[in-house]
Amino acid sequence: MKEQKFEFSFEVYNDIEELTEDDRLLLSEARNVTKKAYAPYSNFFVGAAAKLSNGEMVTGSNQENASFPVGICAERVLLGSASSLYPDTSIETMAISYQGQTVRSDHPISPCGMCRQALQEYEGRMQKPIRLILGGMQGKIYIIKSVSQLLPLAFTSEELTE
Ligand code: THU
Repeated sequence: MKEQKFEFSFEVYNDIEELTEDDRLLLSEARNVTKKAYAPYSNFFVGAAAKLSNGEMVTGSNQENASFPVGICAERVLLGSASSLYPDTSIETMAISYQGQTVRSDHPISPCGMCRQALQEYEGRMQKPIRLILGGMQGKIYIIKSVSQLLPLAFTSEELTE
């Protein structure tokens, strides 16, 4: 028997002022786009903004449904838009923020399991790490080098062919 270990490190910033100008812009946009969320059931409004390798910015917000499982997270709305508008273009960095009606937005949230899987597929498909900036409307900010770090032992397309 051999024990294996998975480790990852990430950067923690005290607030948005500590980020580079590009990163500040992206997180500000993610914060703004929370206003476009359609989340009348959870009242939890998520915004995502991504900078693509062609210089374009794409955004997404969560879109819920009266049939709850039909709702889509901000991250996957963004991936669908990015892939439709700019196919074969990698994502360099994605910022994710949120606002809640009943919760304070003072710490980072990180993508749900389903979004991690979707982000991982995008990263693998483009052969380019997607950097994540996670932060609330205020408070600490996390920067993660690659989404694959959030999904160790991921199931990928490589398993589907010999
Ligand atoms: N949600 C996102 O859009 N992204 C996340 O990273 C976490 C959760 C959405 C799904 C649902 O509309 C609401 O937030 C509450 O779970």
